[in-house]
Amino acid sequence: MASTSKNKSKSKKAKPDPVVVSGMRPTGTLHLGHLNGAIKSWVRLQDEASCYFFVADWHALTTEYANTDGIAGNVDGMVLDWLAAGMDPERSVLFLQSEVPAHAELFLMYSMVIPVPWLERVPTYKEQQEQLEGRDLSTMGFLGYPLLQAADITAYKATAVPVGEDQLPHIELTREVVRRFNRLYGEIFPEPKSVIVPAARVPGTDGRKMSKSYGNSVDLTDDPAAIEKKLSRMVTDTRRQRLIDPGDPKDCPAFRLHEIYCTEEERAELTVACKTASIGCLDCKKVMIKHVVAEVEPMRQRRLEFEKRPGVVTEILAEGGRRAREVADATLAEAKEAMGL
Ligand code: TRP
Ligand code: SF4
Repeated sequence: MASTSKNKSKSKKAKPDPVVVSGMRPTGTLHLGHLNGAIKSWVRLQDEASCYFFVADWHALTTEYANTDGIAGNVDGMVLDWLAAGMDPERSVLFLQSEVPAHAELFLMYSMVIPVPWLERVPTYKEQQEQLEGRDLSTMGFLGYPLLQAADITAYKATAVPVGEDQLPHIELTREVVRRFNRLYGEIFPEPKSVIVPAARVPGTDGRKMSKSYGNSVDLTDDPAAIEKKLSRMVTDTRRQRLIDPGDPKDCPAFRLHEIYCTEEERAELTVACKTASIGCLDCKKVMIKHVVAEVEPMRQRRLEFEKRPGVVTEILAEGGRRAREVADATLAEAKEAMGL
């Protein structure tokens, strides 16, 4: 029989604290795409959960193994950008993936349990192989990428993983790994939920996805003049050839930034002005540029402050690595015992 509601509320266990894990490949200077697609939500989550954020250098190897020059060199710069944007080593654990061997051990154990076809049918597998043609991506590591990600996430028994839409299949695979593991060996891991970051798609100045390799990015290290210069040239609705030609914000790549940065009133006003050709694109963009500069410039200043402290990133990653290993090693011990090792 069901217990009475009174009993229920009495016996209800305190909900465990949410645990958030996310990683980022060391790609070099961060830009508005990373900021709006990930980092701002990471910064917010620091107040709501136990957070583990790491530089995914092993993941970088899966595609860059033939030219590893950039990997280590990009770590410091990326962590500086994180700090500049408000990531706080007091409130979250910031670490380097390859300094926590438990990720690799969990990955190895999962690889005994997970059928290869589960990995072959992850959509990013074939897509990336096609996109990055010219590299030999027929490696174990590339196929196993999502399984390593499952290890990253479960090492901390994460309950929530903030990711962009492109990563959803990987989180789904992680949930399948958890279900299979728990069914075979007992309830060890929670099934993590993905937290989708809504403003994930920021177009670059040429209208394509913002990416350093396209040369269309606005970087967190850009000063106000550089931001203004780049965004003033950003592509707009192509129908606005002349000042008297009306356009539509919904066909304007620059307006995607207005949507993130401008107030509702500003957007309403500029929408009318665009459709009636009563404003020029440059003036319209100036309204948005002002907000972008107001956000990025304090970050750039904070980064300059951190840069004055030699060794600060090394120190933060050393301490973060210690804290991460403590938790991940405990999870690993539990998983090994459950598996009968
Ligand atoms: N695959 C992610 C990306 O390319 C990075 C990543 C690695 C990650 N491990 C993770 C994200 C664990 C979330 C959780 O963006
Ligand atoms: Fe885009 Fe503004 Fe130009 Fe319209 S006026 S096309 S919204 S930049």
